[in-house]
Amino acid sequence: MKFCPSTATLLFSIPLQADAGVDATDSCCAALSASSVGQQVVYPHQELFVKSVESYWSRSVRLSPSCIVQPKSVEDVSVAVSTLVQEGGSLSSCKFAVRSGGHTVWAGAANIEDGVTIDLSKMNNTIHHPENKTASIYPGARWASVYKTLENDNVTVAGGRGGPVGVGGFLLGGGNSFHSARVGFACDNVVNYQVVLASGAIVEANENTNPDLFKALKGGTINFGIVTRFDMKTIPTEGIWGGAVTYDWSTAYQQIPAFVHFTDNIHKDPYASLITMWQYDSKTDTNSVINAMHYTKPVAHPAAYDEFKQFSNMSDGTRIDSQYVHVTELSQEGESRNVFVTGTHANNAKVIQKAAELHKQVIEEAKKHAKSKSWILVLIIQPWPKLFTERGSGVGGNVLGLERFDENLIQTLYDYSWDDKADDELFHRLARSNHQQLDGYAKMINADNEFVYLDYADKTQDPLRGYGEQNVKYIRRVAEKYDPYGVFQYQVPGGFKVSNVN
Ligand SMILES: Cc1cc2nc3c(=O)[nH]c(=O)nc-3n(C[C@H](O)[C@H](O)[C@H](O)COP(=O)(O)OP(=O)(O)OC[C@H]3O[C@@H](n4cnc5c(N)ncnc54)[C@H](O)[C@@H]3O)c2cc1C
Ligand SMILES: *[C@@H]1O[C@H](CO)[C@@H](O)[C@H](O)[C@H]1NC(C)=O
Ligand SMILES: *[C@@H]1O[C@H](CO)[C@@H](O)[C@H](O)[C@H]1NC(C)=O
Ligand SMILES: *[C@@H]1O[C@H](CO)[C@@H](O)[C@H](O)[C@H]1NC(C)=O
Ligand SMILES: *[C@@H]1O[C@H](CO)[C@@H](O)[C@H](O)[C@H]1NC(C)=O
Repeated sequence: MKFCPSTATLLFSIPLQADAGVDATDSCCAALSASSVGQQVVYPHQELFVKSVESYWSRSVRLSPSCIVQPKSVEDVSVAVSTLVQEGGSLSSCKFAVRSGGHTVWAGAANIEDGVTIDLSKMNNTIHHPENKTASIYPGARWASVYKTLENDNVTVAGGRGGPVGVGGFLLGGGNSFHSARVGFACDNVVNYQVVLASGAIVEANENTNPDLFKALKGGTINFGIVTRFDMKTIPTEGIWGGAVTYDWSTAYQQIPAFVHFTDNIHKDPYASLITMWQYDSKTDTNSVINAMHYTKPVAHPAAYDEFKQFSNMSDGTRIDSQYVHVTELSQEGESRNVFVTGTHANNAKVIQKAAELHKQVIEEAKKHAKSKSWILVLIIQPWPKLFTERGSGVGGNVLGLERFDENLIQTLYDYSWDDKADDELFHRLARSNHQQLDGYAKMINADNEFVYLDYADKTQDPLRGYGEQNVKYIRRVAEKYDPYGVFQYQVPGGFKVSNVN
């Protein structure tokens, strides 16, 4: 490496100034092209480049890097990282980004302009190891393909609930799954990580080897290295009962107590999971309530959902099917412009009522100003009970910091989509102000919470800070140990960085 040793120790507090012009970036791509991964480097005029750019879920995030490298193996990733670090010579050049499934909704998290994107989508295998009840899952896989492979052997894993969502980003930020009440967050089910460090070294992280890195990767995202393989515990499966149940908006307020009780009672039947969506669609000018009910056993209409039976539904997609089919159905279509903003609150009926009022106000506000032909405003409310943390904490812990809260929580996600770029400012503003107003109200009634779920967070939010001071210190220490020059802080600007925590 060509780092200047005298400045190296300062890098965590004083990043070198960026001075990478177009020429510098060209030399980075040229160095990659000249290396042993040269065959895997693609440029803007090439079809594979365009395909990679267009495969980001949201239209809002489709940046054009100087070149994209698509490694096929851990060795390729190691060569790409070493080449970019060495060619850079200082942390100011050869900036790069890391992408798995490309589902992050803000631009620059998993890609870059004037830099190189390392696109892991070719590393997308899933291999079941029945002998030790684990599966090796590669970061570029999508959850639908993971389940499809594993279900051939009647097993599954605690992964994403939307079929096309990527493995890498999801697992590094926590991961809420249908199985969370049984086995904790998805990250709690990882027993081993293979990681390429900034030095190019390939290391394993598990309970015995590099245990500090192992724990830090459970929520600590892109601060330490590039994960090239996740080994996860498998779960036997015989199918899942569930699906989306749609109701008229007129039932929304009446359903709130049922949601609150469901969240408080989930420990009585941890096979149950629930996602409540309030969805306004401008094309039909209708606001509806959608409950995605998923029960991780093949049992129809389990008692956990009894309280919802009193509300008459307009459509009911529940049935017994494989997890693969359920997540394929649940995948929200991309191809629009999007914003996600998220909040965490106490499981309190007043907060949810306030959220419903604000949701209606936002719809009226958007109707007045939106230029898009079509736009959809979804407020997603999900149980985030203590049980999720209790079920996960037995396995070595994570850095989410949720054990410091002694109450059942809920997660709110403002998930807005539209088609006209001219509305970008409007919908970002509405999502952020809706969240701020609800949070303000929650503070007033002591129902607020400082946790911010990283996988849903907007770039204006500070999810690592929400893990608590001790965990931030821990993440910083682990990052400094495994990446002493701060490559993943400064040379890889995308994603949530521990050096940026306020
Ligand atoms: C339609 C939809 C459905 C969703 N459903 C769920 C859900 O059910 N539950 C839930 O918890 N979340 C869900 N999410 C949120 C989802 O978890 C995040 O968007 C997550 O980041 C997706 O992972 P990805 O691999 O696609 O991310 P990417 O956008 O590729 O990456 C996210 C971040 O992680 C970093 N990163 C990616 N791969 C690696 C790696 N291998 N090593 C190091 N760093 C890496 C990137 O640099 C980036 O900063 C959903 C999102 C969408 C859009
Ligand atoms: C992996 O990605 C390739 C395209 O790069 C695709 O053809 C293949 O179907 C994917 N494999 C799985 C298991 O999803
Ligand atoms: C499980 O078994 C496979 C194949 O024998 C092996 O490669 C892997 O390391 C094992 N995983 C764990 C976590 O022990
Ligand atoms: C999976 O389960 C089905 C139904 O019980 C059974 O017929 C099949 O043999 C099982 N497959 C494996 C690989 O165990
Ligand atoms: C939806 O409504 C139908 C008809 O009333 C009812 O039979 C069904 O149980 C309802 N679904 C759920 C999940 O409550």
